[in-house]
Amino acid sequence: MKGTASQEIIDDAKRVLYGNLKIGFCRWAGTEYKYVSPAKDHYPHQWFWDSCFHAIVLSHFDIELAKNEILSLLKIQRPDGFVPHMIFWEQGILGWREILRPLESRPSVSPKTSQLIQPPLLAEAVEAIYKKEKEVGFLYEILPKLSSYYRWLARERDPDNDGLISIIAPYESGMDQSPSYDPVLGLDGSSAIFASLAGRTVTFRNMIHRYNLKKIFNADYFIVEDVMVNSIYIKNLQILSRLLHEIDHEEAAREFHQLAAKAKGTLIKKCYDSKEGFFYDRYGSEEKIARVKTIKGLFPLVLDLPKTIVKRLVSDHLFSRDEFDLPFAVPTVARSEKAFSAAPVIIAKEPIIWRGPTWINTNWYIVNGLKHHGFDKEAKRLAERSVDLIRQSGFREFFNPFTGEGYGPSNFGWSTLVVDMLLS
Ligand code: GLC
Repeated sequence: MKGTASQEIIDDAKRVLYGNLKIGFCRWAGTEYKYVSPAKDHYPHQWFWDSCFHAIVLSHFDIELAKNEILSLLKIQRPDGFVPHMIFWEQGILGWREILRPLESRPSVSPKTSQLIQPPLLAEAVEAIYKKEKEVGFLYEILPKLSSYYRWLARERDPDNDGLISIIAPYESGMDQSPSYDPVLGLDGSSAIFASLAGRTVTFRNMIHRYNLKKIFNADYFIVEDVMVNSIYIKNLQILSRLLHEIDHEEAAREFHQLAAKAKGTLIKKCYDSKEGFFYDRYGSEEKIARVKTIKGLFPLVLDLPKTIVKRLVSDHLFSRDEFDLPFAVPTVARSEKAFSAAPVIIAKEPIIWRGPTWINTNWYIVNGLKHHGFDKEAKRLAERSVDLIRQSGFREFFNPFTGEGYGPSNFGWSTLVVDMLLS
């Protein structure tokens, strides 16, 4: 897929990522900061999974900046291993969204970071850098920090000790208003606006609990074993184990390999519905099934799986015209769902997101999952369709799966993942 047209996209992607750079001095941290924001004005802070995606793209043409994305996230890692999903390096940014910041932190007028997590793809980002550079010095420097981060997840986010980690707010999956959470929030899929409000109620309650995880788990209003978060978690534990093996840290490599094996066994046992051939989240202490078909249910494709499961995910769902096979695939919600909406509902100029449109980061995972299982032709086709979206509508945040129309801010950082699709 190389050629002049592709080169143009690559050049544009560079312009987007360099254009979103934020550089300055952070007073509260007493240190300089430098990171690529998801979208300079609309999303000015540093976000965890965005930075990991940026690093993966940057690894193709600017290793130092790729490393910097990761090092910047880890600069404020807590001694217990936790890494937040947002870092507010810049002070004094005013906007209505900032009013909501304290909900994602402990009560404070001016929080410095959130207290939430995001999908843990740090190891994947480090692996992308390592594959290009083959510099073990970087691994020696960074893997102890990664190990402490993944140990924190395993220790603090698995209250029932089944190997799967739990999220405590919709924002932790990065899929803020996904209808997969509607049943958890007591909704029936018919109202995007209520989904948005209910999500804020969850973070409000978390804030009241001062983000004390024991209290939050005991209160049991939003505990979700999320299929996408756990698929990414498992894949990343496997990668971390391999990277530790590269530097002969065999004991730690075994530890993470075992954590991954346990989590994967549970994911298949608890989240796979063999009648439907699809994966669903589990929620609450009773582990109810959140039976809403979203793209999250296809994410286990990034893992080794029994062939029968792969076949059903791919032919019964991913390539079903009634569900995910739309002209500009892959929609984040199956079109057969009541909650599916090809265009976002907008309130007060803000779109309610993840309720149908196509996103490039989720496509990137599905492309990789297809390749992993030998569906090379299908992976290539989906990569091409993703590139078409960018050609037609630019690096927007997300897209209409029927028309390809772009929504959300332009020059959106992780939409440059098409570069990785072109070059890998
Ligand atoms: C939105 C997305 C989230 C992303 C953030 C910054 O909140 O839902 O996944 O990390 O924007 O791009």
